[in-house]
Amino acid sequence: MFQCMETTADKSEDPSLLDLVSIRASLAEHYDLAPSVELAEQMRDIYDRMDRVVPEPDWAIYAPYVAAINKLKKEKNAVILAHNYMTPEIYHGVADFVGDSLQLAIKATEVEEDVIVQCGVHFMAETSKILNPSKTVLIPDMEAGCSLAESITAEGVEEMRAKYPGAPVVSYVNTTAEVKAASDICCTSSNALQIVNAMESDTVIMTPDQYLAQNVANESHKKVVFWEGSCIVHELYTAADLRAYREMHPDTKIIAHPECTPDVVAESDFTGSTSGIIDWVHSHKPKEAMLVTECSMASNIADELPEVEFAKPCNMCPYMKKITLEKILWSLHTMTEEVEVDADVAVKAKQAVEAMIDLSKKLGI
Ligand code: 13P
Ligand code: SF4
Repeated sequence: MFQCMETTADKSEDPSLLDLVSIRASLAEHYDLAPSVELAEQMRDIYDRMDRVVPEPDWAIYAPYVAAINKLKKEKNAVILAHNYMTPEIYHGVADFVGDSLQLAIKATEVEEDVIVQCGVHFMAETSKILNPSKTVLIPDMEAGCSLAESITAEGVEEMRAKYPGAPVVSYVNTTAEVKAASDICCTSSNALQIVNAMESDTVIMTPDQYLAQNVANESHKKVVFWEGSCIVHELYTAADLRAYREMHPDTKIIAHPECTPDVVAESDFTGSTSGIIDWVHSHKPKEAMLVTECSMASNIADELPEVEFAKPCNMCPYMKKITLEKILWSLHTMTEEVEVDADVAVKAKQAVEAMIDLSKKLGI
């Protein structure tokens, strides 16, 4: 594919990296993936959902991949669950369901297909596997990690328990299965405050996102103690930058994800999960909006909301961007890379994830 993407230059240094040259050569033997204006025109209904952000020549490049993936999905009885940070050609072209972390976890409990292809990062695929041990869960690139998930281990959770005896551990879903298994309950950005408030103890341990924890603490009556992890995408935003932007564009609505620092959240007109942000923009339809989160968010909703002018400052998640159409096709073609979770760990992690899902449903989230 001609698309601008990561190169394979350091493959010799890290054999775990996917060999894109071999993948491309192998795919070319099985599928006609040459750019096609005719196919692009035939698939105009899909393109109409992204034509404000994807140029026509790019769509002619993507269309053969989208057609091949959608055909293969049926043949393999697979479903694609995609996070809101996927690029528009994935989000609108091949995803069967899109959502935030909580919605993806709930959807994973409902799918009937044998195979789940998780277009998102590794902890999301692991969550799907934990909830569906009998299904095949694939991730198009095992290297799609997350700075938060990498910041803590199960030992870290035990350290926190030793420091704050008796306090329950609420772990963000952006964690490994081992960390979930060591926790009492999980949370996501859409239910963190309610989950913390529902704990019986006056002190609650939150891992691993220090900023999500501080943002929750600012609205909760609980004493929240936290691990000092952070998201490399959201920690880059500063309140000073937002104030400067607002001075130049006073009508802009600033909408931030709660992984941002508390002073960034304080500068915002609304804070919510990725789907919470999308819903807010849909319902308020501001003339100008700045989404203080990952870049694909604004691109994915630009066509649905032509009346909204999206301000461009955004930060890209290098992990989410490891997922491409080419790798999704390869994943379905070869049924790799399969996500596995140790059975004992999975049982305990499932309890923490299900406790969150049950409580969220009970609280109407
Ligand atoms: P959401 O649950 O809000 O989709 O957040 C996931 C995430 O990784 C944001 O960086
Ligand atoms: Fe992790 Fe941040 Fe990327 Fe979300 S945006 S997957 S929290 S690194």
